[in-house]
Amino acid sequence: MNPQGMFPTVRLRRLRYLPAVRRLVRQVHLRTEQMILPLFVRPGRAVKKEIPSMPGHYQLSPDLAAEEVREAGRLGLGGVLLFGVPEHKDPEGREALRPDGVIPQAIRAAKDAAPNVLVITDLCFCEYTDHGHCGPLYQRTGRTDVDNDATLELLGQQAVVHAQAGADLIAPSGMMDGMVGAIRKALDAAGFSDVPILSYSAKYASAFYGPFRQAAESAPQFGDRRSYQMDPAVRTEQALREIELDLAEGADMVMVKPALAYLDVIREVRRRWPEVPLAAYNVSGEYSMVKAAAEQGWLDEKLIALEMLTAICRAGADILITYWAKQTAHWLAESPI
Ligand code: PBG
Repeated sequence: MNPQGMFPTVRLRRLRYLPAVRRLVRQVHLRTEQMILPLFVRPGRAVKKEIPSMPGHYQLSPDLAAEEVREAGRLGLGGVLLFGVPEHKDPEGREALRPDGVIPQAIRAAKDAAPNVLVITDLCFCEYTDHGHCGPLYQRTGRTDVDNDATLELLGQQAVVHAQAGADLIAPSGMMDGMVGAIRKALDAAGFSDVPILSYSAKYASAFYGPFRQAAESAPQFGDRRSYQMDPAVRTEQALREIELDLAEGADMVMVKPALAYLDVIREVRRRWPEVPLAAYNVSGEYSMVKAAAEQGWLDEKLIALEMLTAICRAGADILITYWAKQTAHWLAESPI
């Protein structure tokens, strides 16, 4: 019998009439504990500076960031992801290596305030270099670009600084070749062999990072990041290669970023590695465009955010890094969708 011929015996709407039946057969569930809250930390005390491009988010001094970490714990979030917005920038991003820098300060404050809340640190140099690229530059045949191998050395040092301050999980985001291996080696040599690495493995050169670059003051001062971040127009197999290499170098968890326009990549990674913890970064542009439209009254922020996060989960992500982490905790407590 052809599928049409099965009507009216088969009526898929039967599973949709009653809310109780819909609830019973639902398969994708958002959980508060899978949400990671990104925080922007700048030096000082009692500083709370609005981020115009990301309504509802602020640059916070370490003391106030620690309050947010405590709040994340109260809400039952999976953890926080720290980004540093340092005062001093230079060509090498040296500030990133200081044991008393803004991120080590924030980690210590967080651990004092809420020792059990997972603290993840973003590991990169773009917030620390005066040119805004993700590592020191070099010239090669008339071209200025990020020096991959010099950056690896510095990333290893930065990772150890974070681990010494008490970071629970290190998340390198610079898309340098060999970064996971170099960081693993440096951490192990410094006695941190039990600190896991969450690699931003498949990170695309995306215009969706626009609002973040204002938040973190990390926009490249010339050119773009296309010589290290991935080209959106390459087929998903390249993302699989990136992930395969990161796993071979010792990544404990991997990430696809951005999330929404890259659900196919999330899906493929999940299929290929059913057991590897997979994070998806619901990035600043995905957040801010909904915020802007909601402010106009054009769409419902809560429904859109939950639908987006559900779709990212359905595609196969386990861990959701999202600027809606706190709201999601409240929304799920109000009325689980
Ligand atoms: C740093 C970094 C970026 C983001 C996370 N880590 C910016 C970039 O690569 O330019 C973007 C996050 C977001 O847009 O929310 N390398």
